[in-house]
Amino acid sequence: MATGLERKVGGDGLEQADFEPRILAFVCNWCTYAAADLAGTSRLKYAANVRIIRVPCTGRIDPLFILKAFERGADGVIVSGCHPGDCHYSSGNYHARRRWMVFRELLKFIGIDERRVQFFWVSAAEGGKWSEVVNKVVGELRELGPFTGYPARRNQFEQLYNEAAARGQDGGERLFERVM
Ligand code: FES
Repeated sequence: MATGLERKVGGDGLEQADFEPRILAFVCNWCTYAAADLAGTSRLKYAANVRIIRVPCTGRIDPLFILKAFERGADGVIVSGCHPGDCHYSSGNYHARRRWMVFRELLKFIGIDERRVQFFWVSAAEGGKWSEVVNKVVGELRELGPFTGYPARRNQFEQLYNEAAARGQDGGERLFERVM
């Protein structure tokens, strides 16, 4: 007999039960954060699944922040900043894009579906685009189901954190204290 609480299976075979994805968005202060603000002041409706972490520039986003988001229970991550040529620090978004290309290969290597981390350019004037981006990612993650892969990969991730700590990186611990 159907109870309404049956567990469904998502696109990558993971279980989901009336699942709502938890998404963390790393956005640059000058463009996408302003776009999210504009979406709010324009009263655009979009899915409420996203928690925003504002950073000065996408160039500030260490890939370890993304792994940390998964450790803290995120099902997906959005990275968004100024369009190419518009970065307020000249080339931060180019650095972020290059880092992302390498990081994407790492995601594949450790078996995380790359659709769980998505990269966008959203300018301060694009409140509508921001709401579309959020709805698109939420829809895809609903299909994918919850991210349950962290425990299986804990050792790999902890090794990365330890190596980063040895280099003096903090992995963004203080950023996460505020939102997750
Ligand atoms: Fe927005 Fe660099 S200031 S990406």
